[in-house]
Amino acid sequence: MSDAFDDFVDMLDYPMFVVTTRAGDDLAGCLVGFATQASIDPPTFLVGVSIDNHTYDVARRATHLAVHALSAEQIELARLFGGETGDAVDKFTRCAWHRGPEGLPILDNVSGWFAGAVRDRFAMGDHIGHLLAPIAGETSTRADRLLSFADVRRLQPGHGRS
Ligand SMILES: Cc1cc2nc3c(=O)[nH]c(=O)nc-3n(C[C@H](O)[C@H](O)[C@H](O)COP(=O)(O)O)c2cc1C
Repeated sequence: MSDAFDDFVDMLDYPMFVVTTRAGDDLAGCLVGFATQASIDPPTFLVGVSIDNHTYDVARRATHLAVHALSAEQIELARLFGGETGDAVDKFTRCAWHRGPEGLPILDNVSGWFAGAVRDRFAMGDHIGHLLAPIAGETSTRADRLLSFADVRRLQPGHGRS
């Protein structure tokens, strides 16, 4: 079954996001593909954060996360958040961002973002599900093609196997 499942997921393409968060003075963020809208009413969005990531260390203490959709041209930003780890570098000295709701770091010039309150956390396997209820956000009026898994599938995750 595992070969069939691997073949199945190999066929897929899906949007990629950068998820950022804050707990106290600690900021963190990483590239995620395990993320989707999960309900219409109430509106919710599910983000899977690897327990190995620096981002999880902050997200597990955070009340809110911010989810950013990048344009396909923002590959360098994807590389920073997906190919580097906050255990080794301060990603927020290497990109443009501003403070948003709840003091969250919001990346500048992205195609869209929303901030969500963490309503629930649960084990999904090696990733922890964070169920978010949106509280604020903005979407660009540009007709960007969004970054998807196909654009970053060769990127080596900055934090090991996650
Ligand atoms: C294509 C791709 C998809 C990824 N999807 C996820 C994901 O859904 N959840 C996650 O926690 N990490 C995911 N990662 C891994 C993290 O983005 C990566 O390990 C990052 O460097 C972690 O940074 P941190 O240690 O600062 O949190 C993905 C990486 C890549 C390249």
